[in-house]
Order: sequence, then structure tokens, then C-alpha cells
Amino acid sequence: MPYRTLQATLRQQLPGVVMMSAGRITDPAEAQTLLDHNEADLIGLGRALVADPAWPIKSATGRTYDIRYCVSCNTCWDTMITHRLPMACINNPRVAWVDEVDWWPTQKVEKQKRIVVVGAGLAGMEAAWVAAARGHNVTVLSKGSEPGGKARLRTHLDGGEEVSSVYDYQTTAAQRAGVKFVGGITAQLKDVIALKPDSVVLATGSEMVKPEWLP
Ligand SMILES: Cc1cc2nc3c(=O)[nH]c(=O)nc-3n(C[C@H](O)[C@H](O)[C@H](O)COP(=O)(O)O)c2cc1C
Ligand code: SF4
Repeated sequence: MPYRTLQATLRQQLPGVVMMSAGRITDPAEAQTLLDHNEADLIGLGRALVADPAWPIKSATGRTYDIRYCVSCNTCWDTMITHRLPMACINNPRVAWVDEVDWWPTQKVEKQKRIVVVGAGLAGMEAAWVAAARGHNVTVLSKGSEPGGKARLRTHLDGGEEVSSVYDYQTTAAQRAGVKFVGGITAQLKDVIALKPDSVVLATGSEMVKPEWLP
């Protein structure tokens, strides 16, 4: 909440004026703290609702564990303003879809497939939980002992801790959908074949590319 001090000062200077606090309020607990300390009358949410438009419903019904939290990466801004593309969000693949609010697959598949996902980074985990929630039998083979892949590295850097919320949500969703997770294995062909898959998703990660603008 980068503007908290500023807004609190403004509030003291303007008694009786109704104030909305806004700016990087991502967690219901943060919003509640501002209200409890009488630092705001209203809470303004921008990106928190881009990342999860069900934020208020989940907050009001004790499902904060189920929120896809905004990680303040500004990809949403960047796609629209810099690249002139439709908005994208790194924690909400369905952003701006008509059915995005509190989305969970409702239509089950007619024929269940055995699906093996190799790689438990953000792409692999998203594919895994959605396929399982649709009714498929999904196993994830992960080199790391826990989901997250390279995003986990980012969380070790200053300011990157919040990124964990992307794979935390996916982990919870995968458990709810019944995904089988096998960690600590560098999957070989024989490991995949042994599971007799109908489909295989290779999500073993992308290569880092040096930005062209770097000298
Ligand atoms: C897609 C997008 C575009 C934005 N463009 C601007 C902008 O042009 N100028 C600006 O001052 N703020 C801009 N913002 C920041 C909003 O003013 C900010 O999101 C708002 O204060 C709420 O904060 P929050 O998103 O952290 O909740 C933009 C935000 C988003 C998500
Ligand atoms: S793209 Fe990043 S900053 Fe924008 S809403 Fe999603 S998580 Fe938040």
C-alpha cells in the first residue's frame, strides 16, 4: 500500500470528507486494516479485480485462500498501453472473458483421458488443474519438489515474494480438482510411457531471452 501514509495524512487534513483509499491494495486483510484504523471510508480496487473479479465475493465468504492475488507486475497495463493488445494478466488467464468471475469448469468431458503433464511451472500447473477439473485423470511430473517452476526463483528476489500467489492458487486448485503430483523427478520417456497417457503436455519451461535493448 504505497500511498497509505499519504492518504492517512490527507484524511486528517480533510475531516468530514468521504475518502476512498486506492493503490496496490491486494489483500482483504489490508483493506480491512485501513477501515479498522479509520484511514478510509471506501476501498478502491483496480488490478486486484483484474486478477480476480471474484475478490469481493471470496473475501466476504471466507475464501481468501481461493483468491488469485494481483502481484503488481503491471503486465495488464503493459499489454494495453505499450503493445496495444487486449489486456492480459499473469494470474488470470481468463481476464475479460464473460464467464471469468469465480470460474471453475462446469462442463465435464464425455470421455476421460489419462493426461501426463511434464513440468510444474505456471503453464503446466494451469493446464493440469483445468484438465482435471474438466474430468480428466491428470498426473504432473515435476523436477522440483513443489509446484512453481522458475516462478519460484523470482520469489527469492526482493519484491518478488508475491509471485508465489500465482502457483499457490494453482496448487490449491489442483488439489481440489484431484491432480496427482509427483515431485522430485526429472521425467524420462520411460516415466511418461509407464503412466500410459492418452495425452502428454510438455511444459518444461521456456529459455530466457536477453532483451534486445540491453548493451
Ligand atoms: C490497465 C491499466 C492502465 C492504467 N493506466 C493508468 C494511467 O494511464 N495513468 C495512471 O495514473 N494510472 C493508471 N493505472 C493505474 C490506476 O490508476 C491504478 O490501478 C489505480 O490507482 C488502482 O490501483 P490498483 O490497481 O493498485 O488497485 C492503470 C492501471 C491499469 C490496471
Ligand atoms: S497483470 Fe499483474 S499487475 Fe495486472 S492485474 Fe494481473 S497480476 Fe496484477
